[in-house]
Amino acid sequence: MKAVRIPRVEAEKVRRLAEKTGAKDKNRLIVTRGEFVEIPIYDGYEELFSQYEIIQQENPVFKKKADLLHVLKPLIPENLHHLIPRSYKIVGDIALVKIPHELESFAELIAEKIMEIHPRLKAVWRDFGKEGMLRRPHLQLLSGEGSETLHREFGCVYRLDVTKVMFSPGNLGEKMRLVRLVRNGETIVDMFAGIGYFTIPLAVHTKARRIYSIEINPDSYHYLLENIQLNRAENVITILGDSMKVTPEGVADRVVMGHIFCHEFLQVAICALKPEGGVIHYHESVPEAVIQRPVERVKNAAEKAGRKVEITGFRKVKNYSPGVVHVVVDAKIV
Ligand SMILES: C[S@@+](CC[C@H](N)C(=O)[O-])C[C@H]1O[C@@H](n2cnc3c(N)ncnc32)[C@H](O)[C@@H]1O
Repeated sequence: MKAVRIPRVEAEKVRRLAEKTGAKDKNRLIVTRGEFVEIPIYDGYEELFSQYEIIQQENPVFKKKADLLHVLKPLIPENLHHLIPRSYKIVGDIALVKIPHELESFAELIAEKIMEIHPRLKAVWRDFGKEGMLRRPHLQLLSGEGSETLHREFGCVYRLDVTKVMFSPGNLGEKMRLVRLVRNGETIVDMFAGIGYFTIPLAVHTKARRIYSIEINPDSYHYLLENIQLNRAENVITILGDSMKVTPEGVADRVVMGHIFCHEFLQVAICALKPEGGVIHYHESVPEAVIQRPVERVKNAAEKAGRKVEITGFRKVKNYSPGVVHVVVDAKIV
């Protein structure tokens, strides 16, 4: 569990940044140790605080109300304690929790306790993961009611139905990083736009000239259009269709490939770049044992297209599953 360690005099500035960006770990308290303050942050946000010291917190202090484990321990047999969910996702006013099958008979109890911990929630859904290339969620209602919500993040607002489309709060650090890389006047192609995960912050926080936003799933596309309106994004051209077939060619300074299983689309992404070249942000979910695979895939695709490539960045976005990480490769292609 990470924290930013800073002298007291700088603490307020850093606290405000951590709160504003959603980087502050809401389950832990800010602690003062001597002349220093530790501000707890979620994994994936380290880069945002790169000018400060990042530490592994040795004695984190948890907010009592967020400690689901603490609340459930007296209610669940001891031999199952290690399976109690340590965390859950909150999207707008809905919680999504992964519950192992061994805790099947306690699923509703777990949901009720989450509702008690967060009285503003309207529903808790059990999260069975996402299916296929469309990343459709597989959920089951456990407590409360409703599946449509409004999620606020990084100065943007997203409307979505959690039963129809996914949302990864863990990708926030990557959205912020991307926004910082964009130069005024760029043309960007977002090949897997979803409900606007990247398109919306790019439209809101950059002076990109144009963003082509492509999405295949009509449910996601519906929310993409709605979120463009909600955020008053004016420079977005939306395309409903398969990015393998509809991605415009030769137009982009930057291509975002924000799908973790999209290596087959690399050639199309390269074709989307302007003839003088540009940058591709290629995402992949990769076992740590073959961690170089995404870089090799980008290099091979560029070579196949007869273009030169320079890998300018390679970073972990978040953990995907045990031994598997979600990474992003930045590649300059000319
Ligand atoms: C869910 S997003 C990935 C998550 C996102 N990067 C984030 O920050 O949370 C991937 C999107 O790509 C869309 N998609 C999958 N295959 C596609 C294709 N061939 N063309 C266009 N969109 C596609 C899916 O429907 C989905 O909405």
